[in-house]
Amino acid sequence: MLILTIHNGHDSSFTLLKDGDILGHWEIERICRVKHGTGAQTADGKTIHDIKFPIIQEKLRSFGLDIADVDIIGLNGVTNWDCYHQNSFIWKNLKNKFGDPEGQGKCILEDTNPPFYTWTAPLEVEPCWGNYKGKKEIRFFVLRHSMAHSAASYYTSPFKESAVFSWEGAGDFWETAVECYGLGNCLEFLGSYNWKPHYNIFGSLFNDAGHLLADIGTGLDCPGKVMGLSAYGTPRRQWVDETLRLCGYCGKTFQLCEGGRKRWTSMELEYKGAKFSLRENIIQDVPYPDEPIRSMLKDSSFKVSQDFAASIQQALEEYFLDRLKVLYDKIGSENLCISGGVGLNVLANTRALRESPFKNVHVVSCCNDGGLSLGTALYIWHAYLGNVKICKSFNPYLGDTLYDKPGTDTFGAVVEGFPVNFKQMEWGALCKFIAKELLDKKIVGWIQDRWEIGPRALGNRSIFASPLSADMKNIINRVKRREWYRPFAPIVMEEYAGEYFDIDRPAPYMVVVADSKTDKIPAAVHIDGTARLQTVNRAQNRKAWTLLNEFNKLSGVPVLLNTSYNVGGMPIVNYLSDALKLLCDSSMSYVVVDNYVFRKR
Ligand SMILES: [Fe+2]
Repeated sequence: MLILTIHNGHDSSFTLLKDGDILGHWEIERICRVKHGTGAQTADGKTIHDIKFPIIQEKLRSFGLDIADVDIIGLNGVTNWDCYHQNSFIWKNLKNKFGDPEGQGKCILEDTNPPFYTWTAPLEVEPCWGNYKGKKEIRFFVLRHSMAHSAASYYTSPFKESAVFSWEGAGDFWETAVECYGLGNCLEFLGSYNWKPHYNIFGSLFNDAGHLLADIGTGLDCPGKVMGLSAYGTPRRQWVDETLRLCGYCGKTFQLCEGGRKRWTSMELEYKGAKFSLRENIIQDVPYPDEPIRSMLKDSSFKVSQDFAASIQQALEEYFLDRLKVLYDKIGSENLCISGGVGLNVLANTRALRESPFKNVHVVSCCNDGGLSLGTALYIWHAYLGNVKICKSFNPYLGDTLYDKPGTDTFGAVVEGFPVNFKQMEWGALCKFIAKELLDKKIVGWIQDRWEIGPRALGNRSIFASPLSADMKNIINRVKRREWYRPFAPIVMEEYAGEYFDIDRPAPYMVVVADSKTDKIPAAVHIDGTARLQTVNRAQNRKAWTLLNEFNKLSGVPVLLNTSYNVGGMPIVNYLSDALKLLCDSSMSYVVVDNYVFRKR
């Protein structure tokens, strides 16, 4: 049984699942080098969607497979059939790539919980499938967007049963949050919060706040920045309440508030003794506030912007805890899976772990839209086909190995274009050498094996540095061209995690924070004393663990600063050329690829 699932839209991805094993999960941005893969044009004038289908064919071929071997094609993105028609992009894409499902006359609404659509259609589809020229009847399966998110977290969790809460910015422009219950291979839909007719969810408010406060990057990158900035501020109760009202949250009950989104703009902000009002309707009708206000908000000494971010974060957490209590009362499970883009809010996840009635929390590393095709594939395998859910820890290293790496045909030509030397080293000696250089405050790119799926680097596409001195934070921020307030995360040997951080369990996906117990690692701890840590053990990532072990032997500290191998606004690297360019253009000293060490000449 070979299942191919495709997510269109931003953070486009596809997944191949063969007999229940995930052959791979590919976020298109890593290949086409356009962050979030929003369909923008690539350098050679093609859209991401133009290049996606040949890429799928290429990956199938790398496993000795062809599109003709696929049994089910899964898609996501519809809440109901009406919404399906409203979503013109998906509709057009389906028709262009797979034929018109309605035209087939075989489209079936499956009477299940949740309902979904399947149909059988002839696969004779265009040149988009590379060399495929045949014709085949193939089963199609459409899963609603929010359920695909929920499935991504539940089916990768170690739980036999669990409550699931998925929430995000816009969802499929119909559902923005959904509650589910997973039991064995089943995932039951319980209910959802809808986008229309009112605006009532936090994810997009974070986008708006990001534009107000930071004005950098796309909307999809803004929420993380607001979260980072929030640690510098103090929540103001009036603003927290205002934000809750904006989201339709009125007191103890969740009610929809008409026109709430506009009210935010009436807040008055003080700056250098003067008062400013954000224009009425500014968020609703104009994407950005006036330039002078924007500039002031970017000022690091402007406390109001920090308090504003802290207030929004606080409101989000209060809302979340309240929703979780309701969900717990409905279900009574001790386990919680979190998904959707807001699942990347590590502060909210942490409060769920510490303060909600749930005892165990799982968040998949690709809980954003990049994980939708994975969730769809796992849903088809378990819920639709009825296969048993295997409850074990999830391996997130499911992407490709580095393109053009040593040993490939193109390696020589790529490396010739850069002023670098390289040498191959025995693995043990390499780790000792790099650990020593890290202790000497060198910055090291670290690329090993297949990339980790999701937006966080989990030790295979990382930049590592010593966490021992506070100034390293600013040095790395310059390398990565990031804002001053963005925190860096620690990667720690799992066996020492409890010694350095207030945490009593492994945290392998960098989706929660923990309070630091030590002043030894200032570069990897945020201003509020928290750290968005990743714990690592030998089985989970042997190479990163070995490097940490060597660093521990030299320094007495089993922790490194770990950040993703990219610069602001770019996807995480997977081309050797991108990795070497950053090495040559920055104060990085080395890039390690497998057991090859590159350095600038
Ligand atoms: Fe989503």
